[in-house]
Amino acid sequence: MLRPVGTPPSPDDPDYAPAPIQYNIEGITYIQGALIANKSYSLPSNFNPGLDKTCQTQFNKMVNNAYTKEGLQLKFGSGFRSYNDQYNIYNNFVARDGQVAADSYSARAGYSEHQSGLAIDVNTIDHTFDGTPEAAWLENHCHEYGFILRYPQGKENITGYQYESWHIRYLGTDLSYAVHNSGLTLEEYFGIDSYYH
Ligand code: DAL
Ligand code: ZN
Repeated sequence: MLRPVGTPPSPDDPDYAPAPIQYNIEGITYIQGALIANKSYSLPSNFNPGLDKTCQTQFNKMVNNAYTKEGLQLKFGSGFRSYNDQYNIYNNFVARDGQVAADSYSARAGYSEHQSGLAIDVNTIDHTFDGTPEAAWLENHCHEYGFILRYPQGKENITGYQYESWHIRYLGTDLSYAVHNSGLTLEEYFGIDSYYH
């Protein structure tokens, strides 16, 4: 059975479905209409959409509100990255730190959410952002603008990546509220995994 959009999974639910309304269009997986990009679900190398317009608009709105309401400065760090951009970034990290370490914090080409045009890195894109008032505000408020904090602390084995206080994913507010309120990662919410097969 399928559960309605925005309803988090519950093991007690007789209608629980691990991966509801999942479909694939031209090599891209969508669940409940949300594009999935992680270590298990890749994107075609020629998928090159640029930064999603609504994602950009909502990000700008969030930046403005964070500043006018709280005096916090959120800055755009990195958004859309092509397959080739990611190829170069990942390979530089492998050359620097080795493949095992690189895989814990950087996606291989074709597996990065940045290639979807639906992910943005905020401010410093490193652990100096952790624990700042901006990071705390982002974690608690980004869902109001349609985003989720994609790689939370303590969920490395589920998301496949180290904690990233700066990486947010645009889902639209229906799903962002539902995922945020569930306290689950996107993988747990949809009942999917994230590892290189
Ligand atoms: N740092 C994230 C996981 C990426 O490379 O897409
Ligand atoms: Zn990122």
